[in-house]
Amino acid sequence: MDHFALRGGAMFAEDVPLATIAEQVGTPVYVYSRATLERHARVFKEALADLGDVHIAFAIKANPNLSVLRVLARQGFGADIVSVGEMKRALAAGVAAKDIVYSGVGKTRDDLAHALDAGIGQFNIELEEEGAALAEIAAAKGKTATAVLRVNPDVDAGTHAKISTGLSENKFGVPIDLAGDILARLDALKGLNMRGLALHIGSQIFDLDPIERAYAKVGALAMDLRKAGHVIDRIDLGGGLGVPYERDKVPPSPADYGAMVKRVTKDWGVTLMFEPGRVIAGNAGVLLTEVIWVKPGIVRPYVIVDAAMNDLARPAMYDAYHDFDAVHPTGEKMVANIAGPVCESGDTFAMDREIDAVKAGDLAVFRTAGAYGATMASTYNSRPLVPEVMVDGDRFAVVAERVKAEALIEAEPMPDFLA
Ligand code: LLP
Repeated sequence: MDHFALRGGAMFAEDVPLATIAEQVGTPVYVYSRATLERHARVFKEALADLGDVHIAFAIKANPNLSVLRVLARQGFGADIVSVGEMKRALAAGVAAKDIVYSGVGKTRDDLAHALDAGIGQFNIELEEEGAALAEIAAAKGKTATAVLRVNPDVDAGTHAKISTGLSENKFGVPIDLAGDILARLDALKGLNMRGLALHIGSQIFDLDPIERAYAKVGALAMDLRKAGHVIDRIDLGGGLGVPYERDKVPPSPADYGAMVKRVTKDWGVTLMFEPGRVIAGNAGVLLTEVIWVKPGIVRPYVIVDAAMNDLARPAMYDAYHDFDAVHPTGEKMVANIAGPVCESGDTFAMDREIDAVKAGDLAVFRTAGAYGATMASTYNSRPLVPEVMVDGDRFAVVAERVKAEALIEAEPMPDFLA
């Protein structure tokens, strides 16, 4: 459930008409609902309430906006980061360093040193060499890094190939068959305190079955490792739960997920950790856009909106579906293609889709844009970087400014040899 709904014929975000935001901030603009973020955080926590003391780290790659992070930090969420930039954001938003988990397959020695200095809570090691480097850096600083080993369980998550991470050919984690030997070698290193395992098999997963199989595999490995004398007191189960981009395709609920986790992990005797991203932020945001033209087409008209693939990359990158709704629907429908102004045919949000009838100057939203939306935006075609707004009841604020062409030009010094 979200807080973007029609009232008296106009779409609101909580108690703010989207038309007011468009008028004051301009379009395109991402609009987040604080109440929706809080609701999703609560629902997720409630779904895991039976599992004892769990640690939930929001995967901030899904939405690293500082205000979004602050809302979630106040709900008790830590942060799952994949870069030092994300670490800085988490800290700036008020996430405690001890609640930060650092994932990612390409951490440099510099990254590891920065994160150690900041005192983050956990490193998720993706390869033996990374663990060895971390141990060496920590020992040189007289520190001990708390870490878990990310295991690749070789389970097909059944999601889009570009967001699948748990197959043996994917770049993530160590092969499950080698995990025991690698852990034994890492355990022996000074500077490293290995505490358990991590996994994450993909994103936008619609079927709990592969998740359950992956968890069961890692659970069995954990029990073997414990028998062999290793400390296994935490297991990080990653993120990946899908959200309903299409109204008639409903993913498993957080409660279904929680029940499955409880069943699979009941004998593990560990602290469970989670890294949800999309399920928290996805439906808490929309991309508000204005129709520039309705261009007659040979087969279908093209609704040309002022948002483009640089603002919302998911349709161009993953053929992703985002609902498109008019802010002031008339009840009439049309069948159209929806595209942005960027000079690529891939800058198309939908083809041959039945949508609310719109005309030039109308406002509309792409729904479920709160995750992997603004964070993946670019300035391609020298378009301004898209701004973000947060709504809280009947008030709203710009939480990321539109970065205009002038500012981007300013950041490009002309070398002396071209003066
Ligand atoms: N943990 C790790 C280690 C991850 O790699 C990810 C996502 C998550 C947690 C959070 O997954 P979530 O709960 O959000 O599914 N840009 C793509 C999604 C990329 C996901 C990358 N990893 C998209 O727009 O669909």
